[in-house]
Amino acid sequence: MQASVDEISDGIYRISMFLPHVQPPIGFTFNQFLVLADEPLLFHCGHRKLFPLVSAAVARILPLERLRWISFGHLEADECGAMNEWLAASPRAQIVHGVVGARVSIDDMADRPARVLPDGTVLELGGRRVRFIDTPHVPHGWDAGVIYEEETATLFCSDLFAHGGNGPAITASDILAPAIAAPGAAMSLTPNTAPLIHRLSKLAPRTLAVMHGSSFTGDAGAALAGLADHYASCLRSALRE
Ligand SMILES: [Fe+2]
Ligand SMILES: [Fe+2]
Repeated sequence: MQASVDEISDGIYRISMFLPHVQPPIGFTFNQFLVLADEPLLFHCGHRKLFPLVSAAVARILPLERLRWISFGHLEADECGAMNEWLAASPRAQIVHGVVGARVSIDDMADRPARVLPDGTVLELGGRRVRFIDTPHVPHGWDAGVIYEEETATLFCSDLFAHGGNGPAITASDILAPAIAAPGAAMSLTPNTAPLIHRLSKLAPRTLAVMHGSSFTGDAGAALAGLADHYASCLRSALRE
């Protein structure tokens, strides 16, 4: 088994693990993203048990010692299980996360202190700018957040648009229908779900870096608006029952 590596946007790499036994019969991907810059950033650490494979793939792009920032959407094994393995392999690296994730969990779980960024803060990477956006309970967990790289207009949207199979690294085909058709148990549904996703759509991203499934290039703002409308409709249906 080996992770695949693809550049999905200028200087942004997708490191993908395909696990056929997850969500059979089509399988499921777990994707990490590397943003190249003066201070490179890894988004999603991956599972602790997959660290040897994921780190070997990242090392094909840059020496692990060069990694400066490690981040992820929320506290969950696929997002951050390997956080301490990364800290050990990359002595200059620091975890960076929102207030809730850092104060509730990372301060205790991580082997080095995290840098804490309040909602809307921009992290300068040197040649790239990454905005941290709190999205509590979207997709799930009160520590949830996403990041947005402003130069390439890439939204790292965590579990939003998750879909199964082992499709291309990036697609311009419709991404909304596969996401809606996928099992939705992982998505929290609250009165804030649709408004928060509509807020993300206003960023008008050109690329969606999707954690599970193909990434997307095209009118990502419209795709996000469609996803928000879908969840608004799901919530109305649930309240009627
Ligand atoms: Fe998740
Ligand atoms: Fe995930």
